[in-house]
Amino acid sequence: MAIAIRTAKEIAKMRRSGEALRGVLDALREAVKPGVTTLDLEKLAEAKIAAAGAVAAFKGYHDYPCVLCTSINSEVVHGIPSAKRVLREGDVVSIDCGLIIDGYYADYAVTVPVGKVSDEAARLLATTEQSLGAAIEAVRPGATLGDVGAAVQKVAEAAGFSIVREFVGHGIGRQMHEEPQIPNYGVPGQGIRLREGMVLAIEPMVNAGKHAVRVLEDGWTAVTADGSLSAHFEHTVAVRAEGCDVLTA
Ligand code: MF3
Ligand code: CO
Repeated sequence: MAIAIRTAKEIAKMRRSGEALRGVLDALREAVKPGVTTLDLEKLAEAKIAAAGAVAAFKGYHDYPCVLCTSINSEVVHGIPSAKRVLREGDVVSIDCGLIIDGYYADYAVTVPVGKVSDEAARLLATTEQSLGAAIEAVRPGATLGDVGAAVQKVAEAAGFSIVREFVGHGIGRQMHEEPQIPNYGVPGQGIRLREGMVLAIEPMVNAGKHAVRVLEDGWTAVTADGSLSAHFEHTVAVRAEGCDVLTA
């Protein structure tokens, strides 16, 4: 299937989804404290999504059981909220959420420190967020997906961290995962060219140690193979004539 080109009207709808999702994640970020469980975050997210008049995008997706993915420390992505997972001072937790309003999806993730974290953890979070910023800077009509991936890779690797290969960003719109796939590594000038109206979920996953990951017995939770810390940030962005609009900002 070809990559969808969205009209200005469709992008305006996706911005509504993005803004509502941003509101949900802002509330979750506020709620992150030592002693809170990831199921507490899940329940808060469910309430906030309903209050926004939105439908959760993750729950039921390939039988995923929750509206959030909550991935702590060496967990990379797709951690399942649980009453048994208590956040502790010094943890970092990735909170990933998606929702649908009026048929249009938004997808957004942040990694949040729990209380005071180590200097290495703080540097990993800052670097991963900066790598997403560099990707967003690279998004404009005529740029290639290789330009976007290379922008992420350069920031993460210059800091001595590594890029996860097994999971990638994606086009988004009427479905959560549309074409194209968006790797967080690449060669400038290679890959398909971006066009005005494409909408992309860009989501670098950066490990403090080696890039390899494995999936736990629950069939979902991806963890670093070497047990190192991992961080994940995501925005939904629309390619516009002048560059791009971050719909989840
Ligand atoms: N935000 C993720 C993604 O972009 C999570 C979706 S997996 C789900 O692919 F099963 F939780 F929905
Ligand atoms: Co995504």
